[in-house]
Amino acid sequence: MQNISRNFFSYLSKNKLLNKSAKRWGLQLGASKVVAGLNVENAIETIKDLNDSGRMVTLDHLGEFVNEEQEARDAMEAGLHTLDVLHEHGVHSTLSVKLTKLGLDIDENLCRQHISALAHQASIYGNEINIDMEDYARYEQTLSILHSLREQYDNVGTVLQSYLHRGVDDVHALAGIPLRIVKGAYKESPAVAYQKKDDVDRHFLQMVEAHMLNESYTAIATHDHELIDEVKAFAARNHIPREMFEFQMLYGFRNDLQQSLVNEGYRFRTYVPFGRDWYGYFMRRLAERPQNVTFALRGMFSK
Ligand code: FDA
Repeated sequence: MQNISRNFFSYLSKNKLLNKSAKRWGLQLGASKVVAGLNVENAIETIKDLNDSGRMVTLDHLGEFVNEEQEARDAMEAGLHTLDVLHEHGVHSTLSVKLTKLGLDIDENLCRQHISALAHQASIYGNEINIDMEDYARYEQTLSILHSLREQYDNVGTVLQSYLHRGVDDVHALAGIPLRIVKGAYKESPAVAYQKKDDVDRHFLQMVEAHMLNESYTAIATHDHELIDEVKAFAARNHIPREMFEFQMLYGFRNDLQQSLVNEGYRFRTYVPFGRDWYGYFMRRLAERPQNVTFALRGMFSK
């Protein structure tokens, strides 16, 4: 049942027609519980509330798999605007971006120009950019772009997914670069990715521990309390300073757990998505956890 649900929502997340139509609908289907509004001005209010509660933020202007040049250019301009607004409001929020939104599938050079412009602007503001990791088809290109950017900018990091067999090797290859470790949200083949939760979880811990032991800044991005407890214990045993890692969760999920980590004195960051392109993001959340469907249905009727 869990697999059927995962496949179904993964399929819906990639449906181009539905993605396009949803931009016109505004936030529907309960998405407003996990997406902080349609524009950056709405999102700023959410960021301020989270900052007031002790949480840092990384802001994601939703959108992905863009295949028109003008759309990719608009996405870059919107990213620059978002960085300006974050700076003007003096909030604690970095920016998370997806390379396919910046034109990766159209022309890699165009995408490189766009992401460089964002890294440059962020560096002027003393802010940071995190490149989200998308599906495996874009993995090598994403890492290659990251490496080139790091030659000029040290305010850029990325995400590694523990469902990929190569995860620990990539952690070592990226020692010194800030990494967010996640389990992975796309449907990948057994040739490259673990399919069983136990394997993904075990590998998640191995990757987190390896990056911490490499004395590299580590973001542990999961809602899984068991893994979080294991990371806390590992960090304590190995005297990893608390300034060298942070926990991260998505906006709208496990708010109590988010706050209790803050109260325990851990660095914490909430990933806050906003924008008209909410559909693919929202469908992936439904694919991840069947219980999220109930959560969404409740959202539909409580608006
Ligand atoms: P998972 O869904 O495996 O759940 C494990 C256990 O945790 C559950 O059995 C339950 O006990 C508990 N749990 C989980 N959610 C709960 C809830 N809402 N309420 C109560 N209990 C709950 N992916 C990607 O491919 N590229 C990326 O760039 C990113 N970026 C990213 C940023 C951040 C900040 C986060 C948190 C996640 C991502 N992801 C991602 C998504 C990630 O890969 C993954 O798909 C989701 O986080 C779901 O996996 P979890 O580790 O959260 O727990």
